[in-house]
Amino acid sequence: MDTGISIDSLIARLRSIQKEAPGDRYSRRRLYDATQAMAAELEDPIDSIYRIGFAPLQLAMAKLGSNLGLFELLQTSRVPLKTDVLAEKTGVDFVLLRRILRYLASVGMIEETETDTFGASKLTSNLTNPQAKASLGWFLDLCAPALNKIPDFLAATNYHNPSDGLNSAFHMGHDTTEHPFAFIMKHPYHLENMNKWMSFQREGCNQWLDRFDFKAEVCHGGDVVPEEPLFVDIGGGIGHQCRLFQERLPDISGIGRIILQDQSHVLEQALPLPNAQKMSYDFWTPQPVKGARAYYMRGILHDWGDAQCVEIIRQIIPAMSTNSVLLVDEMVLPEARAHWLATHMDLAMLGLAAAMERTKRHWESLLDAAGMRILGIHEYNKEFGDSILVAVPKVIK
Ligand SMILES: C[S@@+](CC[C@H](N)C(=O)[O-])C[C@H]1O[C@@H](n2cnc3c(N)ncnc32)[C@H](O)[C@@H]1O
Repeated sequence: MDTGISIDSLIARLRSIQKEAPGDRYSRRRLYDATQAMAAELEDPIDSIYRIGFAPLQLAMAKLGSNLGLFELLQTSRVPLKTDVLAEKTGVDFVLLRRILRYLASVGMIEETETDTFGASKLTSNLTNPQAKASLGWFLDLCAPALNKIPDFLAATNYHNPSDGLNSAFHMGHDTTEHPFAFIMKHPYHLENMNKWMSFQREGCNQWLDRFDFKAEVCHGGDVVPEEPLFVDIGGGIGHQCRLFQERLPDISGIGRIILQDQSHVLEQALPLPNAQKMSYDFWTPQPVKGARAYYMRGILHDWGDAQCVEIIRQIIPAMSTNSVLLVDEMVLPEARAHWLATHMDLAMLGLAAAMERTKRHWESLLDAAGMRILGIHEYNKEFGDSILVAVPKVIK
């Protein structure tokens, strides 16, 4: 159908949208999602197969570009560089490098300014960031072998929802019997990549204390008793949330006790936290800190199947007093139309650890099975649905 509008003028209109893009992250994300949805509408069947089928190549080539230092070379050069100069700097065969550069330019990771001459694009700077580099290693070397095996693993297990962290697509892909956490701990390369990816993933996002009023919701206005356990971070890693708590709530942090719990080898790496106690603790055993105001867990329960989550929570309940709450800091998926970022995380959890992200209804039934009821859900990060679920025991003994 001839609409009388030329393709060139449509393309010019699309480009002008990008120039008008709003500065704030959430509005930009909405615009980005809309352009992706529109691009999908424009796809012919073969385009869909190209896009989906070649997705692994894009990750592999981004990692190769990163390994060769191509993105840094182009990003830090004041002028575009010729292929022969790049071949000399990287030590890669000229013909091979030309093919690599041609590919990277065709997908926008770098820019081809003229024949055999390449400069940095917007994506080049995104890929030069050290955390982005580590994330490519995380995805290609740790995640991809596991995620590639999801179809075979699910077929071999009769399409049951996996919940055994010792038997997942990860084990097929990495040919190991170890739990993914134990495996990662033994491989410093994967561990470093994972840590960088985890912090990169949350960069620029709201933190839970940006949206959750701890004093109002937990302390009911601020009646903190000196030396009372105030904030226990269970599986708190190296202490980022304890540090955030102290920074954001210096008045009550100086009164009640702050306790960071994790495995001893993790605590050895902990940040300096002058006013927090570091306590080696295994969350499969009874919680030793009694009557704390808040027992907090971030990114713990999404690592496990429902039965294991119930077991972890049941270790906390006997330690809780009438003043205690459990704060579960996790993604809450909407019942319908979950964002692609959230669904990717959910299936990555499936492939790696036979674990999952959960909807509000799922959280309600899981906490109910553990003997808890939810008092409130406070969303603090729209993109992923990251939320604080406040829960108390149904029965206090
Ligand atoms: C996904 S990380 C989350 C870390 C931290 N809460 C955060 O949000 O950054 C899971 C944490 O659980 C800890 N963990 C695993 N098994 C544990 C156990 N049995 N007892 C205590 N902590 C454990 C790990 O050491 C790791 O720090």
